Amino acid sequence: MNKIHTLPQWRQDTPGIKDLIHLNNAGAALMPRQVIEAIQQHIHLEAVNGGYESADLRRADIEKVYASLATLLNTKASNIALTANATDAYSRALSSIPFETGDVILTTDNDYVSNYIAFISMQKRYGVKVERMQQDGATPDLAALPAQMEKLRPKLVSVTHVPTNSGLVQPAAEIGKIVKAHGAWYLLDACQSAGQMPLDVKELHCDFLSATFRKFLRGPRGMGFLYVSDEALAAGLEPLFPDLAGAEWTEIGQYKPRPDARRFEDWEFAYALVLGSGACVDYALEIGLEPIKAQVSALADYTREILAELPGASVLDQGEDPCGIVTVHFAGQAPLFLRDRLRERKINTSHLTRNAALIDFGQKSVDAALRVSPHYYNTKEEIDTLAEHLAELLK
Ligand SMILES: Cc1ncc(COP(=O)(O)O)c(C=O)c1O
Repeated sequence: MNKIHTLPQWRQDTPGIKDLIHLNNAGAALMPRQVIEAIQQHIHLEAVNGGYESADLRRADIEKVYASLATLLNTKASNIALTANATDAYSRALSSIPFETGDVILTTDNDYVSNYIAFISMQKRYGVKVERMQQDGATPDLAALPAQMEKLRPKLVSVTHVPTNSGLVQPAAEIGKIVKAHGAWYLLDACQSAGQMPLDVKELHCDFLSATFRKFLRGPRGMGFLYVSDEALAAGLEPLFPDLAGAEWTEIGQYKPRPDARRFEDWEFAYALVLGSGACVDYALEIGLEPIKAQVSALADYTREILAELPGASVLDQGEDPCGIVTVHFAGQAPLFLRDRLRERKINTSHLTRNAALIDFGQKSVDAALRVSPHYYNTKEEIDTLAEHLAELLK
């Protein structure tokens, strides 16, 4: 077995685990040393060589980052753009759709909070309408969707693959198939699924896929990426504000967008972070996304099982096959209090309030939840330790 496929190796590659139980991978995961070294090396190069000159020196390695992402998503490097974060990727994609008053955006009960805020902003400015898919239990009603598409004729369908607020996995591929059969643009927020499960843009049928590196991909903070389909590029979709990297100023009063997905990029990047992002993708690819998914799911299932036994606990995650995000509500104890006390004990979790998931938390009748998000480098013993501390805090 390849050395990189073993838990001891994953832990040896992760300096952060030494004095910390890090169960906030849905926030930002611990970086493996390969990522840390890639960043540090480039910062050093810039310090002794100059920023622009160092980027030129590393041009081939920078190009490899696009190739790695293309492998991750089963696409071509020319369909990849780098961005500052997932929201940046998402809003660039959103800005490229030529909305007119009355156009419909169709989304789900579980789209990410910032996506909803962007829809409301567009509603205010452009008069678009925001509609939600009919639900069948925890997930959208796939049987009802074709008729809904026919009736609403949305210009854009937006789905968050894995919401920030639960372990739910949306049927993104099945939705994509229906959306594309009806000719709408399909934007998939894969911020929480990237790095914890395989993603194949062909199977997902998406036109855009936005994500970040810092979560389950274990990259640095401050970087995101966007996939753009050939269909979207050929249709001339371009961000509302391309800069001199995304477009060429050809004549006074005219510009020509780049032919590839990099028309969605800005010129300026923190190249140390770009190279660190490439290293995290390579690390995930070396382990394999299927083994990562299996390990993450097993640990998350174990977490749900153990935490459900604590006093006053209700596990909130729904769906047939929940993923690596575990959300729990404890009757009588505020998640923020628990998160803070755990943090003092060197155990990282996170807490979510109702504003992060107005619809979902409203349906579940909770104001807040503790979020525990293990990764493949975590252990059952760490989960047991978390449960022991929680039991003490809940007394
Ligand atoms: C589902 C989902 N989408 C988008 C985002 C936004 O990502 P970023 O903070 O990189 O913009 C998050 C962040 O938590 C998220 O969970």
